[in-house]
Amino acid sequence: MVDVILGLQWGDEGKGKIVDYFAPRYDLIARFQGGPNAGHTLYVNDKKIVLHQIPSGIFHEKTMNLIGNGVVLDPVTLKRECESVASFGVDYRKNLYISQRTHLILPTHRALDKASEMSKGQEKIGSTLKGIGPAYMDKTGRNGLRVGDLLDKSFTTQYIKLRLKHQKLLDSLNFHEDISEWEEEFFEALEFMRQFKIVNGEYFVNDRIAEGKKVLAEGAQGSMLDVDFGTFPFVTSSNTISAGVCTGLGVAPQKIRDVIGVSKAYCTRVGSGPFPTELEDATGEELRRVGNEFGATTGRPRRCGWIDGVALKFACMINGVTKIVMTKADVLDTFGELKICTAYKVNGETTNEIPFQMNKVKIEPQLQSFEGWKTDITALKKYDQLPGKMCEYVQFINKYLGVRIAYISNGPGRDQLIENLDKG
Ligand code: GDP
Ligand code: IMO
Ligand code: MG
Repeated sequence: MVDVILGLQWGDEGKGKIVDYFAPRYDLIARFQGGPNAGHTLYVNDKKIVLHQIPSGIFHEKTMNLIGNGVVLDPVTLKRECESVASFGVDYRKNLYISQRTHLILPTHRALDKASEMSKGQEKIGSTLKGIGPAYMDKTGRNGLRVGDLLDKSFTTQYIKLRLKHQKLLDSLNFHEDISEWEEEFFEALEFMRQFKIVNGEYFVNDRIAEGKKVLAEGAQGSMLDVDFGTFPFVTSSNTISAGVCTGLGVAPQKIRDVIGVSKAYCTRVGSGPFPTELEDATGEELRRVGNEFGATTGRPRRCGWIDGVALKFACMINGVTKIVMTKADVLDTFGELKICTAYKVNGETTNEIPFQMNKVKIEPQLQSFEGWKTDITALKKYDQLPGKMCEYVQFINKYLGVRIAYISNGPGRDQLIENLDKG
């Protein structure tokens, strides 16, 4: 069977840490979508590392890691990441597998991303500029190059053909930056990639399942950035939700067992787009400071606000979430008052549904107030040690969502995760 760990908000929920924590219980960790727009932070022997494309199981010697067909892969970033992982003494060649169907991000995809954002001006998405959108466009437009194509003699010819097409687009967007350095790095990285185990990903995963092995699918971004169900057009270009596991790995829906949704105890978003519970005041500033809310991929400050119950309930519905992990609970330790959004007011009417054009309507979040616990929880190990006020906060969310918060993360460290044994 396959379990899934994915984000329930706008990304950066702490998925990397949670996947790393659960990895020893699985035989295979597989990324099913996204690309180097992701930044998953892990602490290994108290040393920080940010993974962009390599699955977060790479630090566990007995765990296999697969970059699935649903991912768009940048060879240059992969090479850098491998070097960084190797500095931790990990032999990535041993446990890293790549699907031959995984699409490649070309230097011109990155250029196109930049050109497209520049042409949008004020309406820009706030993309990470890693080439994600253009690479997925070439996939659905049936032009893209895949990892398996590297072994094909005609690869360079195909590359040149596609590059020419991209050049025309770049010219039409008035983009004239020199990308020859990127290209040089790209071809070097393609050579580097030849050492990997390039596999038929869908057979690789299904054979492991048939052997009774345990598979964990690792999501990138978050449900509200899903291309279909997120805050379109301010989204990423892939299906970040549990359905993406089926297409992104070649796994049948009935093989999916637990869908573990990760949510912060508050909420953040990086890039443009609607964010109903955003706090553009001193409290938001305080959340950013205490939570150290700066992007792991781009370093941009993250927008901060209260936890959004309406968006979370929506995310639980479209993903079929069976368990929730609440991260960064410790960030709220010093706050006297906390708030949870339980409904939206749109055009004077109260609703519990996500509006169609979230960016075009004015949403007033309906907030319920809670007393803060004002206790340092970072050293606590057990649920019954948690302050009562915090348990009230957790229980309210459990009840509101109808899905249990099964774990609470109380710090970035590997051992800072508390299981909720309270069945109430
Ligand atoms: P991801 O993209 O979902 O993997 O999340 P990121 O790595 O982009 O951002 C999460 C940030 O929060 C990282 O800096 C983590 O080290 C940190 N983090 C994760 N869990 C906790 C937690 O429970 N408490 C605190 N204070 N930090 C956490
Ligand atoms: P992880 O996996 C947070 C956001 C960007 C932008 C939008 C589109 O670390 O949670 P893209 O580069 O995909 O064209 O950007 O999506 N975004 C993320 N925000 N965490 C991420 O990944 C993100 N990946 C993309 O900021 O608003
Ligand atoms: Mg991140």
